[in-house]
Amino acid sequence: METMMQFRGKKITVGITGGIAAYKAADLVSWLYQQGAEVQVIMTKGAQEFISPLLLHSLSGQVVITDMFANDDKLHIPHIYGVDGADLLVIAPATANIMAKAAHGIADDVLSAAILAATCPILFVPAMNFHMYENIATQENMEVLRRRGYHVLEAEEGRMACGTVGKGRFPEAAVLRGAVCQMFFSQQDLAGKKILITAGPTRENIDPVRYLSNYSSGKMGYALAAAAKNRGADVTLVTGPVNLLPPQGVTMVPVVTAVEMYEAALSRYAEMDIVVKAAAVADYRVEAVATQKIKKQGETKDSIQLNLVTNPDILRALGEAKGQQYLVGFAAETENLLDNAKKKLLDKKADMIIANDVSQPEAGFNVDTNAVTLITKDDMLTLPSMDKKALAEKIWDNVIIEIQKKSK
Ligand code: CTP
Repeated sequence: METMMQFRGKKITVGITGGIAAYKAADLVSWLYQQGAEVQVIMTKGAQEFISPLLLHSLSGQVVITDMFANDDKLHIPHIYGVDGADLLVIAPATANIMAKAAHGIADDVLSAAILAATCPILFVPAMNFHMYENIATQENMEVLRRRGYHVLEAEEGRMACGTVGKGRFPEAAVLRGAVCQMFFSQQDLAGKKILITAGPTRENIDPVRYLSNYSSGKMGYALAAAAKNRGADVTLVTGPVNLLPPQGVTMVPVVTAVEMYEAALSRYAEMDIVVKAAAVADYRVEAVATQKIKKQGETKDSIQLNLVTNPDILRALGEAKGQQYLVGFAAETENLLDNAKKKLLDKKADMIIANDVSQPEAGFNVDTNAVTLITKDDMLTLPSMDKKALAEKIWDNVIIEIQKKSK
């Protein structure tokens, strides 16, 4: 059932490529706009052979991006601007060519470059001749895209413009609308669950103007919170200081230090069904925080000492106090990833550890992607590098499977 203006406040970018079904993208754009979305259309040269940018401009209320090198101030760098802040990128129709380019990271026009620059979930809607669709090259490219966490719709069967009958048709409007809705309002498979997530760094004060901290951006924990909320959970997010917008409908508990995070997590623990410790907690704090700014010690003394004491290990404390809760921790490692992570799983009595090698450029702190291995007592699943929002969904998929296994 469609509710009016269900995409209010969402930015959706629609990429249109050169297939006969390009005209059907007009219906999608018009519907998204009517549902309250801010719609940015990007068209390839091929798409413009089939349908006019002016039409899409009128339907979306925004100038259509058609050229990587457009000299228009308003569009800044078109391929970046086109997906900047987007909640979803839909490629409809997606030709075999655009999927091949996306699978191989080729960025030779404005849309393929935008796909590479996008950090939001991406939905490909393939439509092409039956033989092109069935071709092993196309099938393998779609498989690569799916493994990376992109969503690729199955084409429909039926009669095509070229006269053949087979698989490759653009989906019916209702099917496509349903697929887009699912990207935002997925199945409610966490309904009724109370979930606590910790995110971001902690900050340990040195004096009134200085602190010790780490590079955690909070993006993974925030993505987990938003995804769990979308899947129907009652979510509490205990967050260190980060520069992110609170996910809608989530109970926010801001904290600064590890001790504050410990208290916030432990005091709410009893009522929780699932706890995910995505925060990068400082292992040490300054023993005696100076009440006044520490002054420079003159020219003669070229070093000073800060005495650090151990912070409470929050995950370990939760592991010790565990009742019916399902407890998930992270392990940030720079060497011996799997061994160290498995050790953390057992030592801290967690049910799952999400191991990431933070020495890799596409994993860990302060980036939009992550590559992790999910480790449980008797299983291990390595996921490919993907956007943190897509990864959040995969993590929940697996947590749900594990909880179901446990309750059998
Ligand atoms: N953690 C915690 N409290 C701490 C330190 C870590 O709750 N004081 C949690 C983190 O939130 C994460 C897990 O423990 O879920 C592992 O954190 P990580 O920094 O990888 O490991 P540490 O236990 O700190 O061990 P080390 O720094 O020696 O790798």
